[in-house]
Amino acid sequence: MDRSTRVRRRPITRPVAERGENFSTDAKTHVRPNGEIYLPRDLGGHSDVAALRRLAECGLFVLLSGEPGSGKTALAEAAFPDLVTVQCHGDMTVAHLLGTHLPTEDGGWRWADGPLTIAAREGLPMYLDEINSMPMDVSTILHSVMDGRDFVRIDDRPDSAPVHVEPGFYVLASYNPGSLGGRRLSEALLSRFAVHIEVSTDFDAARVLGVPEELVAIAENLVVKSDTDRGSGGRGIWTPQMRELLAARRLTEAGFDLDFAASALVSQCPWPEDVPLVIDVCEHILGVRVVPLSLGNQV
Ligand SMILES: Nc1ncnc2c1ncn2[C@@H]1O[C@H](COP(=O)(O)OP(=O)(O)O)[C@@H](O)[C@H]1O
Ligand SMILES: [Mg+2]
Repeated sequence: MDRSTRVRRRPITRPVAERGENFSTDAKTHVRPNGEIYLPRDLGGHSDVAALRRLAECGLFVLLSGEPGSGKTALAEAAFPDLVTVQCHGDMTVAHLLGTHLPTEDGGWRWADGPLTIAAREGLPMYLDEINSMPMDVSTILHSVMDGRDFVRIDDRPDSAPVHVEPGFYVLASYNPGSLGGRRLSEALLSRFAVHIEVSTDFDAARVLGVPEELVAIAENLVVKSDTDRGSGGRGIWTPQMRELLAARRLTEAGFDLDFAASALVSQCPWPEDVPLVIDVCEHILGVRVVPLSLGNQV
């Protein structure tokens, strides 16, 4: 046997296949319900998709945090094709989770289950997107089901039996720590998520998905600058995430050149004070002048 093979060190994290039988998977891609391909990522030595499914089997709730467009929803949908998704917002009420009475054509009322009630009744995983937009009095509804309570009581239906929480019910949530409208999550809620996972864009996956190298390099360069800025007490610099990179790829596929795609990236920067730096990085990588997209004179 070749000596170099014998002395090769064990990887620090064991490969997925060596850890527990139930959550190993060799799948190199997963297909989301919308038909998009998901490229699984490493999560502490496991495939993220397989690990999430295992955590769900064990009733260990997961909270994903990260910039918009970094891949939180994609992971949730790849792991759970039967996901019940709730887009949380500041005006939501308990009825948005549990259900409400809707008017019928004949002037009466009919009850419509909300997503939490559906997920509990049918034993499905539920994804609370942007959970930090959810008002505090609404989120307290989650406490008892996350504590393993077997029934969901619906106050608006005092005449109906409480809904039994079927096996398979699960809670997964995401938030963007930097979002302006978002609140801080209460400690009571945070502590009910056993596993908190930070999600940032996987630039190698962006390459595999066909994003031109120059555009990935622009994003990676901005990440380095952002980290440096944070290191010196700043809030960081805007960096294009997977969503923006895939949009830029589609521009190049549609026949626009890289300069146009870079201009489009610059125009997506939500922080005006970061625009000059984003332009600098684009110009450095592409070697051409880059300006935000704007309409000019009649052509
Ligand atoms: N690992 C990945 N493999 C394939 N596509 C990905 C991956 N991560 C993110 N994407 C794609 O990036 C885009 C943005 O991801 P999304 O999950 O919607 O972001 P978020 O929910 O964090 O705002 C989607 O089109 C998604 O399909
Ligand atoms: Mg999302």
